[in-house]
Amino acid sequence: MAYSIGINSMLIGVMIISSLVATCSANFNQDFDLTWGDHRAKIFNGGQLLSLSLDKTSGSGFQSKKEYLFGRIDMQLKLVAGNSAGTVTAYYLSSQGPTHDEIDFEFLGNVSGDPYILHTNVFSQGKGNREQQFYLWFDPTKNFHTYSIIWKPQHIIFLVDNTPIRIFKNAESIGIPFPKNQPMRIYSSLWNADDWATRGGLVKTDWSKAPFTAYYRNFKATELSSVSSTSFSDSALQSNELDAYGRRRLRWVQKYFMIYNYCNDLKRFPEGIPAECKRPRF
Ligand SMILES: *[C@@H]1O[C@H](CO)[C@@H](O)[C@H](O)[C@H]1NC(C)=O
Repeated sequence: MAYSIGINSMLIGVMIISSLVATCSANFNQDFDLTWGDHRAKIFNGGQLLSLSLDKTSGSGFQSKKEYLFGRIDMQLKLVAGNSAGTVTAYYLSSQGPTHDEIDFEFLGNVSGDPYILHTNVFSQGKGNREQQFYLWFDPTKNFHTYSIIWKPQHIIFLVDNTPIRIFKNAESIGIPFPKNQPMRIYSSLWNADDWATRGGLVKTDWSKAPFTAYYRNFKATELSSVSSTSFSDSALQSNELDAYGRRRLRWVQKYFMIYNYCNDLKRFPEGIPAECKRPRF
């Protein structure tokens, strides 16, 4: 009895501490600048919530004040609801200049009831062309969901609600540049891309539904030294491999939700698929 009370109060203590940490680390006023779209980008609830809007005149965007070199970046997003066809919500890390590095999430909207596409890409030293696209296993417009990037010298892992969906391994040993020297900022923007986004540009943005709005909260940046995850063990991350559970989740997503993988696009690479694709799975 006494033992269980002890554990309970310890747990409560841990919960209080962790909610304090989360509150402190998620202040948009402190960590971000609104960079595009005037009043269409907004921070409210004392810095706890941010929204971007798109109307016929303009989209909007924001960027982090700080630059990051490795670490884990978490953000919760609630995407444009209803008929979002033609809209794109981009959320990414990027350095600057012609040989920039970039790690991308892009959410391509759709007509009501049809699924968003989550588009991912990795640029190293100015070269991208490493797209993978997924459907999500939930409606990303109903609630906030967490989109994370773990960026380490050994690999980049994309996660959705802590489920790994993609891993891009450091393949410098076979001559593939890996993002590891250029610090990156966090960027996000909501813009109109109805010339290509929905079914290759066939479906146009319905401006009668504007403004379109996406919401952000619970931003958290964790330095590399303390990066760990609840879904797979720290030792698994250190050793450059997901543990059995993480690998199972990744396979599940890739089997049932992946709709495009540049590694399988033979038509696009007539001289042969990129070298990093020929490595062991993922
Ligand atoms: C929109 O829905 C259609 C039909 O389900 C689907 O083929 C398409 O991949 C979806 N996403 C986009 C961005 O077009």
